[in-house]
Amino acid sequence: MRIKSKIVMVLVIFILGIGVMSVLHFLNKGDSSISGQSPNENKPLESQPEVILSEYLFTTDYLNLRSGPGTNFEKIRTLPVGVKVEVLGYDNGWYKISYNGQEGYSIGDYLSDRLDDNDFEEIDEEVIEDGETGEVFKRINGILLVNKDYSLPYDYYPGENEEAREHLDKMINTAKEEINKDIIAFSGFRSYNYQKRLYESSIQTEGLQYTELYSAKPGHSEHQTGLAFDLGGEMKYWLEEEFGETIEGMWLRENAHRFGYILRYPKGKEYITGFGYEPWHFRYVGVDHSIVIYEGELTLEEYLLGGE
Ligand code: DAL
Ligand code: ZN
Repeated sequence: MRIKSKIVMVLVIFILGIGVMSVLHFLNKGDSSISGQSPNENKPLESQPEVILSEYLFTTDYLNLRSGPGTNFEKIRTLPVGVKVEVLGYDNGWYKISYNGQEGYSIGDYLSDRLDDNDFEEIDEEVIEDGETGEVFKRINGILLVNKDYSLPYDYYPGENEEAREHLDKMINTAKEEINKDIIAFSGFRSYNYQKRLYESSIQTEGLQYTELYSAKPGHSEHQTGLAFDLGGEMKYWLEEEFGETIEGMWLRENAHRFGYILRYPKGKEYITGFGYEPWHFRYVGVDHSIVIYEGELTLEEYLLGGE
């Protein structure tokens, strides 16, 4: 072949190659992350990001969890921003990960081994305002904040959270081993309507003042998250402040964080949480968070909102 035709052919192959790459790139765009950046699976190997050898990674954007290592695999769910995921494996730009007990694959572009403080502050907060009721749904760093200021929509109905239940069972079994006491979860997930009935009946039987301190308005109860449980030992102490001084109550207060739970309404913090001391109400937030909250003697409001 003459030199000139060779050059023309090389050029044609090069242009065709670029064309094919662009089509593949276009087909995948917006699928690996809902913010729409393109994934790297069709980039030449040398420009793929290096595999990060870390046991845990953080999501740096909303990120799809898929059933396999590619955009052609079914989407299982979208992961929130700034959450910690466990790394189970790596496959050509895709990480096999586990989050909240769910396993799947996510593209490496939006996983990092460190959480950049600046990014974190900008992107970790998700606020959804319900157009009809004007109520606000707030999740910070993957943690749902439900209190007198932040509520859940009436149709938010997740049921009992599986991960929270698993950790609760572990906590109850460990209490049996360590103090030989039976701890009972006598209240868990509550729907918006069920909370409404409880709140209204509390006003009838206990009066408004008591109700405001110990019962959340519908939409404002953590029980609607499926992540909170009311715990007790002997029935005579259920929902009583004295529960905090029983062996079970003291053990829970000092040990719940080992299982990802926090005592949500501590004594002396009523002015922050908005609710009276409830030694029976425990909220699952995951072990990474519960340890920091316990050691810092913080409420969830102080942990998530700081001085806000
Ligand atoms: N007792 C707590 C505040 C609730 O009703 O959710
Ligand atoms: Zn409760």
